[in-house]
Amino acid sequence: MQKREIGHSGIFVNPIGLGCMGLSEFYGPAVGTADGVALLHAAIDAGIDHFDTAQLYGMGANERLLGEAFHDRRDKVTIATKFGPVRDPETGAFLDVDGSEANMRRAIEDSLRFLRTDHVDLYYLHRVDPKTPIEETVGAMARLVEEGKVRALGLSEASADTLKRAGAVHPIAALQSEYSIFSRDIEEGPLPAVRETGASLVAYSPLGRGLLTGRFTRDYTPPEQDFRSSATQPRFARDALEANLALVEEVKTVAETLDAHPAQVALAWVLGRGEEVLTIPGTTRLSNLHVNLGASRLTLTSDQIARLDTLADRVKGARYPESRMSNINA
Ligand code: ATR
Repeated sequence: MQKREIGHSGIFVNPIGLGCMGLSEFYGPAVGTADGVALLHAAIDAGIDHFDTAQLYGMGANERLLGEAFHDRRDKVTIATKFGPVRDPETGAFLDVDGSEANMRRAIEDSLRFLRTDHVDLYYLHRVDPKTPIEETVGAMARLVEEGKVRALGLSEASADTLKRAGAVHPIAALQSEYSIFSRDIEEGPLPAVRETGASLVAYSPLGRGLLTGRFTRDYTPPEQDFRSSATQPRFARDALEANLALVEEVKTVAETLDAHPAQVALAWVLGRGEEVLTIPGTTRLSNLHVNLGASRLTLTSDQIARLDTLADRVKGARYPESRMSNINA
């Protein structure tokens, strides 16, 4: 697939990248280092060049894994990482979001060390810190660009207003937010602001955390260390899941008419929203990675898109529990 530029950064990537979170945390136990490195190398061979991680994922373990995989082939990859959320080093509990320069300085030095590189290509504020004006955080991030430690800046789950205020301080190359057939709330403000400011949208969870692939059934019970439980992912709560699986059937029907996989339909829908949209589906399996890359060959008809467009309003359950919604679109 033709590469797309991340904002006006001069960085061009395959619009289908790889979300690396699940390799270390949240979707079950972490994969072993050898398996993780093998997957990341195979991803490069398959044509993926945009890898998304964060300080948060496995509290450094995910960045370390990418460092192990990429330190000897740095020129082949665009690495995006993020800072902001602070966790208890002992328990992993989420403590705060800290957008201060002091926290950013600590985070970037750790990230560079773990990633075994002298620069990060795309550096995001992972969640907006309501205590620190965005101008202050982005001003500090801009100094990292001047120092050559970072090439381009991004925000994650920011509102239209925050994105514009940030952009007045330094160009924001990317907004990373959840965006999929099931999650379209950013169309109300953040996505138009992305277009207005010349940024890209990096769509995370484009597969609805796996729901849109058709892999889940109504009796799904999350295995240990998988956060797709009713407490942390309302769409997976029992009655919501049942209702949402009925909607997935419609995605599967579209896939069948195209002789495609539902995951490919989900990704083609996201990529069809515009040239400014990139996506980073997450997978720990090479077979799924190949399926996902196959989405680049798929074009949906306007009738199919119209049918899929009706689903988001019917989805049951919010993206996150109420307690975690305050720094979404913030
Ligand atoms: P996130 O951005 O949070 O990683 P996502 O991309 O919407 O979320 O979905 C990731 C989930 O979809 C993972 O559970 C992944 O599981 P594997 O590691 O087993 O692949 C699953 N997934 C990704 N691609 C898939 C595919 N082609 N078929 C089935 N499941 C897939």
